[in-house]
Amino acid sequence: MDTIIINGGQKLVGEVCISGSKNSTLPILFSTLLTDDTVIITNVPALLDIDIAIAFLKYIGKIVVKDGHTVRIYSYNTIYKCTQPYELVSKMRASILVMGPLLARMKRVNISSPGGCAIGARPIDIHLEAFRMLGVDISVHNNYVKMFVKKQLKGTTINFKFPSVGATENVLLAATLAHGQTTIINAACEPEVTDLISVLNKMGAKIQTYGKNKIIIQGVTKLHGVIHHIIPDRVEAATYIIAAAITKGEVLLKKVIPSHLRIVNSKLKASGLYIKETNTTILAKWVKNLHPQNISTNVYPGFPTDIQAQWMTLMCLLEGTSYIEETVFENRFLHVQELKKFGANILINDRIVKIQGVKKFIGTAVQISDLRAGAALILAGLVAEGQTILSSIHHLDRGYDSIENKLRKLNANIIRIQDKKCGDSRN
Ligand code: EPZ
Repeated sequence: MDTIIINGGQKLVGEVCISGSKNSTLPILFSTLLTDDTVIITNVPALLDIDIAIAFLKYIGKIVVKDGHTVRIYSYNTIYKCTQPYELVSKMRASILVMGPLLARMKRVNISSPGGCAIGARPIDIHLEAFRMLGVDISVHNNYVKMFVKKQLKGTTINFKFPSVGATENVLLAATLAHGQTTIINAACEPEVTDLISVLNKMGAKIQTYGKNKIIIQGVTKLHGVIHHIIPDRVEAATYIIAAAITKGEVLLKKVIPSHLRIVNSKLKASGLYIKETNTTILAKWVKNLHPQNISTNVYPGFPTDIQAQWMTLMCLLEGTSYIEETVFENRFLHVQELKKFGANILINDRIVKIQGVKKFIGTAVQISDLRAGAALILAGLVAEGQTILSSIHHLDRGYDSIENKLRKLNANIIRIQDKKCGDSRN
């Protein structure tokens, strides 16, 4: 497994281009199963999760050609494989987003349950309940979810008990070709959901949003091909803004959508970071010592759970006390024990952590447990005194496009050591 070595203490300065959003690309890749026409997606990030999704599409029956950040998806037949094996599904939870399109097109899916991951049990009950309401017969045998539609998916009103991002996306994908109208109440409204709606409407779907959390989908009989440019990755962007803050540097982020980061940037401004936004850029500049800010994660437009770990690293090095509450996932503090190895002073009490700022971090060896925890540990290494060695960095490669190259261009002293035995985890 590759490792990353950082010699901390460098201020980050310069410009960084933000890549396309992982969490927008994934559902949009699976939406191509809804049509036999060619779909071209641009601004696709170079990530392990994207490679996994492409392999999945090929397994199901698509021809997929990746050319840099452009992916072209073709159909050579309209019969898609409907049994999705554990070895594929277990690699990436977002694989469950094949359910919606395959139920709409093939009327059946046999898929291994995705299981939990480092940050929680991550059940799919909201997805399955919604599909039942759309007329899907569902049974579970030996950890396989067997689903089939007797005639056609039938539109209905679905009221989510929680605005699940994935369940909203799965229902959107299924309902585009259902008979009649589907209304989702308490839907997720993350920018990635909005990007999916925009692609589906360009493909000929009839989807309207009402306020923040109501979506109405009028079923159609067929969808056609499309060309679509993926929105920027707001989580990657927030990570680089926090990197500028924690290293007392000055970084200009390009190809971003500042409105997707409203609450994060307002919290950072409140802490004393200088932030200047245009339509497509964000300048983050450290101008004075920052003050700790409490956060409680929430669904969009609340403080994103995917930025909680990175925020924690920053709070660890600010004078004073701060609190972080994680309300979305039940086990998303795995980065705490690793941050303590740097010298952090953190107390966990169920879903709330209390952070006492310390003067400095000392470089150490740490293990990455999940994608966003990895980003938090990279930030810690950038500012720690001495050398930090990060292992299990394949978690990072799932969600950060060329992170060490982008950071090195910003003056970080960072290298990736490839493990010759198993080659680069990204190949
Ligand atoms: C998406 O996951 C993102 N992944 C996650 O990003 C993100 O953290 C999450 O949304 C929340 O914003 C992708 O978009 C690929 P949820 P998803 O369904 O759809 C519970 C990253 O780092 N729940 O909104 O799986 C669930 O257990 C990843 O890029 C149920 O109980 O998130 C969790 O506690 C990590 N039953 C909460 O809802 C269900 O059927 C939020 O889950 C579904 C979810």
